[in-house]
Amino acid sequence: MSHVVQEKWSSGTAFLLAAIGSAVGLGNIYRFPYIVGENGGGAFVLLYMAVVIVFGIPLVMTELTIGRLKQVPPITAFTQLSEGKKSQPFWTLVGFTSILTPLGILGFYFVIAGWTLNYVYSIITGKLSDLQEGQTQQVFADLMDSPGTLIFWMTLSLVITAFIISRGIKAGLERAVNILMPLLFLILVSLVIYSAFNGGMVETFEFMFTPDFEKINMKTLLEATGQAFFSLSLGSATMLVYGSYLPKDISIPKMACGVAFADTFVALIAGFAIFPIIFTNGMELASGPGLVFETLPVIFDQMPFGQVFGIMFFLLLAFAAITSTISLFEPAVSNLEERGIFTRRKASLVVGAGLWVLASLSALSLNVLKDWHPLTFNDTLKNQNIMDLLEYLSANGMMLVNALLAAIFLGWIVNRKAVLDELGLGDSWLFKFWRTIIKVVVPIAIGYLLLDFLGYGFLTAE
Ligand code: TRP
Repeated sequence: MSHVVQEKWSSGTAFLLAAIGSAVGLGNIYRFPYIVGENGGGAFVLLYMAVVIVFGIPLVMTELTIGRLKQVPPITAFTQLSEGKKSQPFWTLVGFTSILTPLGILGFYFVIAGWTLNYVYSIITGKLSDLQEGQTQQVFADLMDSPGTLIFWMTLSLVITAFIISRGIKAGLERAVNILMPLLFLILVSLVIYSAFNGGMVETFEFMFTPDFEKINMKTLLEATGQAFFSLSLGSATMLVYGSYLPKDISIPKMACGVAFADTFVALIAGFAIFPIIFTNGMELASGPGLVFETLPVIFDQMPFGQVFGIMFFLLLAFAAITSTISLFEPAVSNLEERGIFTRRKASLVVGAGLWVLASLSALSLNVLKDWHPLTFNDTLKNQNIMDLLEYLSANGMMLVNALLAAIFLGWIVNRKAVLDELGLGDSWLFKFWRTIIKVVVPIAIGYLLLDFLGYGFLTAE
């Protein structure tokens, strides 16, 4: 059935850069700091790290393994690995939903990636200098109210992504991450040093590492799990497809630990870049987009060399976003190309065009379509516009469902011996421990969280 021989990453390092690039994104630098803020700091950070270790690493291993066993794109992987089982059609469908999920995520992710590009431009052109009180709120509100501007910058991020994808694994994805990831790291380190020079480090340490266990409940657990899955690019065929390009002689457990470690490290470091300058300047910890798009520009405007560091900060966000959008775009293209339906270039174009429509609707739901609530049959959904829905359904709901099903699939359906050989851990206690986690612990835990998500609410009921 396969018409094209899949390209492979040229080395373990190339894979690591790409996978870390996927994991490190708006989730780390834009979302993680404000979620920590909303959930009271230290306790949430601890809970988050626990979730990454207990569920995150085993699930990254799971998804990489499903991808690499047959070295085929996601849908085909599910079909081939359930060969001869009565449930095969169901698993093929699971493959299908797992490539639709990242497309839903891109529907809103491209819009936010566009904001970051727009901010780089705004600082360069001086639109964010010499600000009066409250003016950054106005700049952000104006952007949200400008459909044309939003769509322009969203389109730019989409075109860059589709272009990289169209060139293939080695000439496209690998080259992009080889350039963007070192830059990203360099900028991040410079920002932390800059922050450290300006004070506020002690407060940041206290805030991030002093746990207040009163703040931990089922709701924070759900939040931490959702954030960890999103940040590790789980539940959406990304790790499947990146795993399918991984040469057979590279250790999956090592790669999974590397990705999880780097991703968590960057999220924490992002906190150390952002919180100190907020604390030293006596600003409030805003939640949501406000933190990065309203509070930080005020501070950059007032600080020495603030303009330079402001540009660097939003470039950092943009680079982090692009290395993630390519990983969300690749699964669909990989499947279309393999079926011989389109060449890679045509597939990039077709998927890109579809996504452009979706992301445009998302951009419009910040202004002209703000009050259009398409789904009215459910209490939680009836007040959500398109962008809210895409985020809620794909980044919260479907991601959990896909991750749960991937764990059940590898734990219960796929042949144990094949998995054992693929992981290279031997029939050790480590292998058995990992397998128990994905066979039993993950299904129970995610199942429980999903029940809550579906609105039964017995976990979070006041
Ligand atoms: N992990 C990225 C971030 O933190 C986003 C991302 C890339 C993603 N691929 C994904 C999220 C797959 C969920 C699923 O921003």
